[in-house]
Amino acid sequence: MTRVPTSFLPPIALELDSRARTPLYRQLYDWFRTAITEGQLRPGQRLPSTRTLAAELKISRIPAANAYDQLAAEGYLETFPGAGTRVARSIPNDTLLFSQTVGPAAGKRSNWPPQRTPRQTVRRVSRRGVALRQLPPQSWLNIVGPFRVSLPALDHFPLGVWSKLVARHARKPAKGVMGYADAMGYLPLREAIAEYLRTVRGVRCEARQILVTTGSQQGLQLSAQVLLDPKDRVGMEEPGYPSARQAFLAAGAHVIPIPVDQEGINVARLSSLGQGVRAVYVTPSHQYPLGMVMGASRRMLLLQWAARTGAWIIEDDYDSEYRFGSRPIAALQGLDTGSTVIYTGTFSKVMFPALRLGYIVVPAHLISAFAAARDAADVFSSTLYQVVLTDFIREGHFARHIRRMRMLYMERRAALVQAIRTQMGDALEVIGSEAGMHLVVLLPPGMDDVAISRRAAQLGISAAPLSTCYAKSISRAGVGSVHGVGRLRRGGLILGYAGASPREINDGISKLRMSLRA
Ligand SMILES: Cc1ncc(COP(=O)(O)O)c(C=O)c1O
Repeated sequence: MTRVPTSFLPPIALELDSRARTPLYRQLYDWFRTAITEGQLRPGQRLPSTRTLAAELKISRIPAANAYDQLAAEGYLETFPGAGTRVARSIPNDTLLFSQTVGPAAGKRSNWPPQRTPRQTVRRVSRRGVALRQLPPQSWLNIVGPFRVSLPALDHFPLGVWSKLVARHARKPAKGVMGYADAMGYLPLREAIAEYLRTVRGVRCEARQILVTTGSQQGLQLSAQVLLDPKDRVGMEEPGYPSARQAFLAAGAHVIPIPVDQEGINVARLSSLGQGVRAVYVTPSHQYPLGMVMGASRRMLLLQWAARTGAWIIEDDYDSEYRFGSRPIAALQGLDTGSTVIYTGTFSKVMFPALRLGYIVVPAHLISAFAAARDAADVFSSTLYQVVLTDFIREGHFARHIRRMRMLYMERRAALVQAIRTQMGDALEVIGSEAGMHLVVLLPPGMDDVAISRRAAQLGISAAPLSTCYAKSISRAGVGSVHGVGRLRRGGLILGYAGASPREINDGISKLRMSLRA
């Protein structure tokens, strides 16, 4: 072994910051550990004594000794009485372990932590991982400004009532509120949801079939996990909900875009695919994003197709509480006699998105499979919020809030349509404005909706481009892929109106006009 002078240290200056909150011994420890794991200090290399180190750094011996002790205890150093301290010889010689260096002093100095040598090995990610990255960066989603899709009127949420209910349960929580709980969810909430769905949505269900989820996104993920194997084919509305596509891609499925017409998904096109489609994703009450309703005959055809082919139907009933011209449309699940439909819903729109609560109505024979999938995923949703939401529903606040929001959203929708008409004339074609919390404006042919959305985002406006709802922008990788190409004839913008006041809507449309002109 080559002998090195005892005071030899790598050429990277070891500077300490005595004013930093990280103690000196910890700064020393971090420095040595990084130098060892990144190979600047080699196995067997001798280190200065604590006395020399302390003198060189003009600190007391105590932090130096503490750092050495800790490094020795963790196996980075070895000490021999009379022979000093060395880097442990058991450390692999070519080690590049990329350990984490911490401490406020670390960030401030250019030499702290010691420079890392990038590792050469290229690590593969899964083909699913690659497929998931195909969505373009969606800057418009990071904005809570006017037209943010799916954003309810947060300033009209009854926070007074809500916070009282939270306090009621948080101040003196029952044991069950703080411990582990049932993967299917809090039973009284499941009972309240089942009653609501039976009465208002025409869903056939019992409380035991309700699985409380972390929003519908988890409902889609769990459905994909329980129902699909990698490479299974899943039919999806085209255009359709991009996050649903992501959930199926994450499960390794082949997503097959099926065009929609005035009645929703084209069942004839589904049938033409033969027997090999394992599931189909639909939004029958309010097609996302275009807004049409699937009529009775199309629903029958879809159920017949599923019965014939043995496919599952995943029904996403995300905002059907808000229908303005008529009563809410009943769920497709209510027509299903063959336990074919997995029904997902959410509290994101009728309460608020950060609540992260939703539900699945699981066919009775799949309850244990879904419960196990949930258990394997994240065990269960926050019990406190489930308990609070149960009271919110049981005490009538939920129904009252929905009634108030229905009126408010009707006004906001009218304000948006009016603003588009007065400020834009006939330049934009408005579609899908009879229900829900968003509408779509079609742009004049040839306009790039993604570029317009990006420009609008710079002005604080969140206008999602319609083209991202088409599968055509998604690549065709092996596992987890999208087959076929969506036919996007015209770009458009999806404009949410629930979260903006009429004044914000008006200002928002003038900014959107500027983005269009640019
Ligand atoms: C079609 C569709 N489904 C579901 C959701 C709700 O998702 P989550 O419950 O995960 O917030 C949305 C919200 O944007 C949506 O547009």
